[in-house]
Amino acid sequence: MFAVLTLLLPLVATLAPGVLAAAGTTCSATSQCASDYPCCSEYGFCGDGYYCLGGCDPLGSNTLDSCKPNPVCQNANYTLSDTSRILTNYTYFDGNASEYDWVVEEGSIMNTTSNGEAAIALILTENGGGTLLSSTRYVHYGQITARLKTGRWAGVVTAFITMSSIKDEIDWEFPGNATTEGQTNYFWQGFIPQTTNGVIENGFTDTYANWHDYTVDWQPDSLTFLVDGNVTRTIKASDCVNNATGVSEFPNTPSRIQLSLWPAGISSEPQGTVQWAGGMINWNDPDYTSAGHFYALFQSVSVQCNDPTPANASVTSYVYGTNTTLDTPSIAFSNVSTMLNGASALSGVNGMHGVLAAGVLAFTLLAHLF
Ligand SMILES: *[C@@H]1O[C@H](CO)[C@@H](O)[C@H](O)[C@H]1NC(C)=O
Ligand SMILES: *[C@@H]1O[C@H](CO)[C@@H](O)[C@H](O)[C@H]1NC(C)=O
Ligand SMILES: *[C@@H]1O[C@H](CO)[C@@H](O)[C@H](O)[C@H]1NC(C)=O
Ligand SMILES: *[C@@H]1O[C@H](CO)[C@@H](O)[C@H](O)[C@H]1NC(C)=O
Ligand SMILES: *[C@@H]1O[C@H](CO)[C@@H](O)[C@H](O)[C@H]1NC(C)=O
Ligand SMILES: *[C@@H]1O[C@H](CO)[C@@H](O)[C@H](O)[C@H]1NC(C)=O
Ligand SMILES: *[C@@H]1O[C@H](CO)[C@@H](O)[C@H](O)[C@H]1NC(C)=O
Ligand SMILES: *[C@@H]1O[C@H](CO)[C@@H](O)[C@H](O)[C@H]1NC(C)=O
Ligand SMILES: *[C@@H]1O[C@H](CO)[C@@H](O)[C@H](O)[C@H]1NC(C)=O
Ligand SMILES: *[C@@H]1O[C@H](CO)[C@@H](O)[C@H](O)[C@H]1NC(C)=O
Repeated sequence: MFAVLTLLLPLVATLAPGVLAAAGTTCSATSQCASDYPCCSEYGFCGDGYYCLGGCDPLGSNTLDSCKPNPVCQNANYTLSDTSRILTNYTYFDGNASEYDWVVEEGSIMNTTSNGEAAIALILTENGGGTLLSSTRYVHYGQITARLKTGRWAGVVTAFITMSSIKDEIDWEFPGNATTEGQTNYFWQGFIPQTTNGVIENGFTDTYANWHDYTVDWQPDSLTFLVDGNVTRTIKASDCVNNATGVSEFPNTPSRIQLSLWPAGISSEPQGTVQWAGGMINWNDPDYTSAGHFYALFQSVSVQCNDPTPANASVTSYVYGTNTTLDTPSIAFSNVSTMLNGASALSGVNGMHGVLAAGVLAFTLLAHLF
């Protein structure tokens, strides 16, 4: 079983009336966008502007190079309390990964301090939904560690994942009813396997009360999960070969890092998802009524890149190559700009076209597990 996260985002008022003519166009690897709104967004809708940035699916887009190239990995230790590096309104993003390390795609963040460590809180409310941050840069193999404190409420899920433009995915997830465990999982191209790859790792000291370092060590031939530097699980790429097709169903495409707090225990979610998350959210929980929101705390994220071939100074990005077979798209370095056309800071807003429906834009984030 897996969970699908549905987020609701109020439709912004910047759309020109004529633009809605293109509304409702969905896209996928078997149904590409037309040339007027060429980019297949991470949620599977055709558009331009920031639809061509993070998460844009090259296989569902008009052409393989409709999406902007993916900003290349850089070694970094991101201190999240430095909110000057976080763009809180994604519609303003122009693709400049040197200007922002993170974009808030949904929801909101707050500064906080916990056990002496400055951090950000990802906010979840009954009316506003959850919060999702994405890195502006991609990782094409590397070791990624997030220091975080989870929520502790049934139905509220804390997550630290990687997600590629074609839905390769690696997860650490924490359903909030169980604060001494975490769940690890991985997906290849969004494919839901008959037998889940999800595993529960337990025996942690309280994940709500204590900072822990959760690591995804993603290498071309292996994937290792660690807690506070201790290995909890290792997967070999060679064990992921589909013996019928010979294809390695192992995450292998450049991925953004995503941090989120999401409401799985709500009536609009499938019953299996609600159960997986520990039940329905109790909006009368004293933690919620006193703070006015649920939250998860993220202190830092460190990234140690391990590209199969190291990038040189002229490399700015990753692009999907001419090999368009769905099984094995090839990834290459490029020196092409990752930014929207001659972008000024506001062009992302003006370019936000081709959305779904008047009033509400339903976002579906494939995120999960079990
Ligand atoms: C983001 O900016 C757009 C354009 O100014 C605005 O319409 C929208 O309400 C903003 N979103 C948030 C969450 O502030
Ligand atoms: C990140 O922190 C680690 C540990 O302090 C350090 O070894 C590494 O050089 C840092 N990386 C960067 C890019 O600053
Ligand atoms: C991208 O942002 C950096 C840092 O703010 C800035 O120095 C650079 O000029 C920007 N690049 C472009 C092409 O706007
Ligand atoms: C968080 O704190 C920093 C430094 O104190 C400040 O610059 C920033 O605006 C704050 N961010 C938020 C979201 O409150
Ligand atoms: C990691 O391993 C060390 C040494 O065995 C142990 O002391 C520590 O409690 C472990 N940490 C976790 C989170 O299991
Ligand atoms: C494919 O076969 C190998 C060798 O028998 C095995 O180790 C591996 O688990 C199989 N792969 C899958 C996905 O079942
Ligand atoms: C959390 O919910 C799951 C799914 O309903 C359940 O299997 C598990 O036992 C619960 N854990 C705790 C600690 O209550
Ligand atoms: C840098 O890397 C790119 C892509 O791998 C390659 O085409 C280019 O020749 C390299 N440049 C130098 C100066 O090595
Ligand atoms: C794509 O790559 C796969 C694996 O390297 C290869 O078998 C296939 O022939 C390639 N297809 C094209 C069209 O280049
Ligand atoms: C990218 O590389 C090509 C070939 O090496 C070179 O001709 C071109 O000027 C480079 N473009 C940029 C923006 O650096």
